[in-house]
Amino acid sequence: MRKLLLTSLVVSALCALVPVSAHASEGKEYPLPNVEWSFEGPFGTYDRAALQRGYAVYRQVCSACHSMKRVSFRNLSALGYTPDQIKSVAGEYTYQDGPNDEGEMFERPGRPSDHFKSPFANDKAAMAANGGALPPDLSLITKAREGGADYVFGILTGYGAAPSDVTVLEGQYFNKHMAGHVIKMPPPLTAGAVTYEDGSPQSVEQYAKDVATFLTWAAEPELEQRKQMGFKVLLFLGIFAAIMYAVKRKIWAKVH
Ligand code: HEC
Repeated sequence: MRKLLLTSLVVSALCALVPVSAHASEGKEYPLPNVEWSFEGPFGTYDRAALQRGYAVYRQVCSACHSMKRVSFRNLSALGYTPDQIKSVAGEYTYQDGPNDEGEMFERPGRPSDHFKSPFANDKAAMAANGGALPPDLSLITKAREGGADYVFGILTGYGAAPSDVTVLEGQYFNKHMAGHVIKMPPPLTAGAVTYEDGSPQSVEQYAKDVATFLTWAAEPELEQRKQMGFKVLLFLGIFAAIMYAVKRKIWAKVH
């Protein structure tokens, strides 16, 4: 009996390990691109122009399938938009609200306090429209996936012809960086699809980089403050250590 229990424990432990090791070997086959991000490093900051372009890409392309339920229009002030601009962007969407005094639900234009409007009423509707695959909410995607912004960039630029050892069924696409190398998201980006007003290249790589920057900001809007605070703390500790050293020398100066 004991032996049986032990064997089943070992077997289930091994089973638990299998997907992990499979995933690790995938990483080696197609390493994630190592993009240079403005928000990396101890003094990293978000590039406001890239954030605005990334929001344009999300809005014009990704928001057809992916919700971002945790972000509201007023959060866009961090991208450099004025309250009036935010109001007019929100007003372009229609929201259901209510019930009113007659007990009826009604439609109204969006307000800055509204969260981004989801493209589908619920997950089932989203899956039905996407060949059974759920487009994940993108609010926290850069935190939810190993590789973060590099991973999002990798997925968006990782399409191509499938090698012979990967079977791609109808409604699936080969993607280097998706687990299992097949994804049910059709390649969302094509060059020229989103018009940039600032003269940045309208290429798939640039779109992917900008939208990954935007999604990183959405998942971590406090990144700049966090890094600044870290620097201040280090500065304080440095000065404090210097003072304490001077005090120590003074106190011990008379003792020989
Ligand atoms: C036509 C609908 C559609 C559009 C447009 C679209 N996606 Fe997707 N996306 C999907 C679906 C469906 C999945 C789930 C795929 C799967 O599980 O095979 C997905 C998955 C993803 C994933 C997650 C992969 C994972 O690790 O699970 C990311 C990241 C992503 N999309 C980003 C984007 C971005 C960024 C855009 C805009 C540039 C975008 N998508 C546009 C439908 C779409």
